[in-house]
Amino acid sequence: MMLVAKTIEQAREIHKQIGGTWGLVPTMGALHEGHLSLVRRARAENEHVVVSIFVNPTQFAPGGDFNKYPRTLERDLELLEPLGVDLVFAPSVEEIYPRDFQTYVEVEEVAKPLEGEHRPGHFRGVATVVTKLFNILQPDRAYFGQKDAQQVVVIRQLVRDLNIPVEIVVGKTMREPDGLAMSSRNAYLSPEERQAASVLYRALCAAREEWLRGERDGEKLRETMRRVLAQEPRAQVEYVSAADSGTLTELNVVQDRVLLSMAVRFGMTRLIDNFLLAKQD
Ligand code: PAJ
Repeated sequence: MMLVAKTIEQAREIHKQIGGTWGLVPTMGALHEGHLSLVRRARAENEHVVVSIFVNPTQFAPGGDFNKYPRTLERDLELLEPLGVDLVFAPSVEEIYPRDFQTYVEVEEVAKPLEGEHRPGHFRGVATVVTKLFNILQPDRAYFGQKDAQQVVVIRQLVRDLNIPVEIVVGKTMREPDGLAMSSRNAYLSPEERQAASVLYRALCAAREEWLRGERDGEKLRETMRRVLAQEPRAQVEYVSAADSGTLTELNVVQDRVLLSMAVRFGMTRLIDNFLLAKQD
């Protein structure tokens, strides 16, 4: 049976009653196969699984898409039930951020470039809510998608720096047949924008081809991604990056491991994607 807790007290009580090892999949709902792949993995690796569904206001920019972010709780619960999820934690904003709330978690260096530069305050909101979810739900393992590569780096840093006793597990990016990374925000795209949006994947593939052929000039890889993106007139590029996968600093000379990433706008919709390239030897 899948239980749904709306309050922190209910969630704590259920955790205490059931005991055992728990895997947590934190989400903002509007679930798709990317989320569900993390849930299946959590199901396979833990005695119990908790999925949180909370559209976290502190990680959205003022005037951003917080209010119009898709909220589909009934459908989300229908998708989770057959996967053998034990508990869904779906609190209200007031439950997580009561009126006198005044403590935030801020990860410094790795939260500054890339998404951090273009979405000020975003990772402060993510780090704060993830810390709260860890404290409320006390999972043994927590599951995140490689789709949000910098989020993974920030959360690993947070867990290390604050000695949080949770193992971070990263699941691979799930894609549509044309390569577009699955995202709740894809629903905002017009049919024309949706068709154009596969250009992110094509740009990443082109840079990967060059890297596989031995190209190690970071600027050349960024240039290749920009060139492919420029072929799509609807794509407004926010950034392209070839960075160190640990520090996220931009590389002029890439080594055998590099994170290629980008943020691209289509109209009002902002999409991100990345490839983590690592030479096997
Ligand atoms: P959300 O965007 O709902 O994503 C929840 C989790 O699903 C994240 O770890 C994300 O990386 C993963 N995910 C999203 N799309 C994916 C895809 N195509 N393939 C694989 N995994 C994918 O990320 C958040 O919510 C929030 O920032 C959160 C961590 C819940 C904190 O509020």
